[in-house]
Amino acid sequence: TRSLLDFADWTAEQVQAIFDTADVMHEVLARPVKKVPALQGMTICTAFFENSTRTRLSFELAARRMSADVVTFAAGASSLSKGESLRDTIETLNALGVDAFIVRHEASGAAHLVNKYSAKPTINAGDGRRAHPTQALLDAYTLREKFGSLEGKKITIVGDVRHSRVARSNAELLPMLGASVTLCGPATLLPKELARRGVTLTTDVNEAVKGADAVMALRLQRERMNAGYLGSLEEYAATYQVNEALMERARDGAFVLHPGPMNRDVEISGSLADSPRALIVRQVENGLAVRMSVLYHLLVGRGA
Ligand code: CP
Repeated sequence: TRSLLDFADWTAEQVQAIFDTADVMHEVLARPVKKVPALQGMTICTAFFENSTRTRLSFELAARRMSADVVTFAAGASSLSKGESLRDTIETLNALGVDAFIVRHEASGAAHLVNKYSAKPTINAGDGRRAHPTQALLDAYTLREKFGSLEGKKITIVGDVRHSRVARSNAELLPMLGASVTLCGPATLLPKELARRGVTLTTDVNEAVKGADAVMALRLQRERMNAGYLGSLEEYAATYQVNEALMERARDGAFVLHPGPMNRDVEISGSLADSPRALIVRQVENGLAVRMSVLYHLLVGRGA
């Protein structure tokens, strides 16, 4: 494949190739001059129709570390406000000579549309609640770095699963790599259709975390909820907050992840987020190497 929209047509071997190249990219990033010429002469467009801190910046840095030119499409400063459509926007960027699109959009399926409108590789940087594949890749890479292999590991994801593209992409990817995934949250935020082989759903957070090798906390995506959809943040935190007391139920030394952005002391206690078992900063570091690897495989390798 030359695009990364989700993991529907990906294999464990292709994912392993991304991880192997990410290991090499870490070596590049450890050098005094952190730059390789792999994408020299190419132009990457980060087309962000929705806000982002780490995904946009790490993709831009990844492209620059590989010597690409980067153009940033910021929806708020664009001609979208004059009624220009997604299709015309992408065709305009195509005409300017963009070689690859990295797309974030609030609408589920938007990355597929961009891929249809452009003959160039498209990377989904998060579309609505549907998929965020590079986040899942960096999560899996971070876990693999700690465990060696994900085979037989229990990974629990607690929070607003309903609105989470991170949960959906991890529920696709982690079982492909041999892990089991337990999704947990209040019933209103836990869509039953996500249950399948390798993916278990429960509203019981104590059961979900019992014996887990790693626990990922997810933010409540209030921007995607209708008013009154959920009780108060205090009620949520009282039951579902990932904190030191809850982690007592996990395996000894179990790790804690969060894709960010975090709301400290709501879905995760600030003290746990700052503790040695939290991999949150390492997730961000690995995100840069993983995104360099994805760009390499899709743009100059033989595809993933
Ligand atoms: N994890 C993640 O996608 O963060 P941003 O929204 O800041 O990119």
